[in-house]
Amino acid sequence: MADATVDTVASVPVAIVGGGPAGLMLAHRLGRAGIGTIVIDTRSRREIETTQRAGILEADAARDLVETGVCDRVLREGHEHEGVEIRFAGRPHRIDFKELVGRSVWLYPQTDVFTDLADARDRDGGTVHFGVKDTEVLDITTGAPRVRYTAPDGSRHEIRARYVVGADGSRSMCRHLVPEDRRVRYGKEYPFAWFGIMAEAPTSAPELVYAHSEHGFALISQRTETVQRMYFQCDPDESVDAWQDDRIWETLQARVAGEDGFRLQEGPILEKTVLRFRSFVQEPMRWGSMVLAGDAAHTVPPTGARGLNLALHDVKVLADVLVRALGGAGEGALDEYQPRALQRVWRAQNFSSWMTQLLHTAPGGTPFDLRRQLGELDNVVGTRAGRAYLAEQYTGWPAGSRA
Ligand code: PHB
Repeated sequence: MADATVDTVASVPVAIVGGGPAGLMLAHRLGRAGIGTIVIDTRSRREIETTQRAGILEADAARDLVETGVCDRVLREGHEHEGVEIRFAGRPHRIDFKELVGRSVWLYPQTDVFTDLADARDRDGGTVHFGVKDTEVLDITTGAPRVRYTAPDGSRHEIRARYVVGADGSRSMCRHLVPEDRRVRYGKEYPFAWFGIMAEAPTSAPELVYAHSEHGFALISQRTETVQRMYFQCDPDESVDAWQDDRIWETLQARVAGEDGFRLQEGPILEKTVLRFRSFVQEPMRWGSMVLAGDAAHTVPPTGARGLNLALHDVKVLADVLVRALGGAGEGALDEYQPRALQRVWRAQNFSSWMTQLLHTAPGGTPFDLRRQLGELDNVVGTRAGRAYLAEQYTGWPAGSRA
């Protein structure tokens, strides 16, 4: 039907709002099953590619990138990590994932996952429109939802679909489409944030270092031989301008200092950002013909490195149920999505908030709080059960595991 308010109308089984890793991986998985998608995102491809995000992939997620045919760059340029270091009271403690649970993780930045997926869409002829505006999602309580948007050249477009997926990240507009009286939002704010830097310096440690100190948390991660990623706990209202390089290095060094004489390798700071975070879940994850996936439905603090992994798990389950729903099983197949996705979401919510409170110092904490926390850290690293718990949670749960 001609519609004077739009310049083009396209029809696909699944319209995806959000072209980050969740949206693109879903499009990739559906494409492999012969199901057409159109993905739209308000950001430009360059903006997504240059926004630094976390860097840890579960082994299953890394394997999926290769086995589903996205590409095998993760194996060539990623780094397999068989453990992490937990530092506290000035001492290092290694958690050996391989020995404890037989699994590992891959250090492979989310920006690289995004680039691989965007390239795979280009290569496979998938449709992705970046830099769109005025996105509207309509008629989600019917079997014929529509998405309208304005392209960067000002033209107006409509996508007619059977299902719409909201994979539009932590500032999701799709999640607001679930009626207010029918949605529940669970969440927790933290009285601290992370100050993140990218520094041109050699690697300081072979694996990630999660450091607790009485001055607050720090995380030492890596990007390449010559570029390192580090974070330290700061006030959520901290301004990056108040932090010159010398002050940043002094703060980081103080948080990792210890009797082993450990010191970070310093160098010019290329980028600084304050990253606020929270724990958040919105239920239900589906409303009529619209389904939420990834950060649009839930976010976790970055301490447990779960966010990207959870999003990739959501879309693995979602692709499976959408293929069945569109293949003749009907809308009922979608009923499985929320329970299968949410079980892992709440496990990850628990682990992420546990690891956050384990390693950060709360403003206004008492000497009792600090000593109790050191007792907890001692319980974690000093018992096999404690180390195995951390290893089990950090490396993720094998796909489909319920127990
Ligand atoms: C990162 O490398 O940016 C990173 C790694 C682990 C985390 C968070 C961020 O828990």
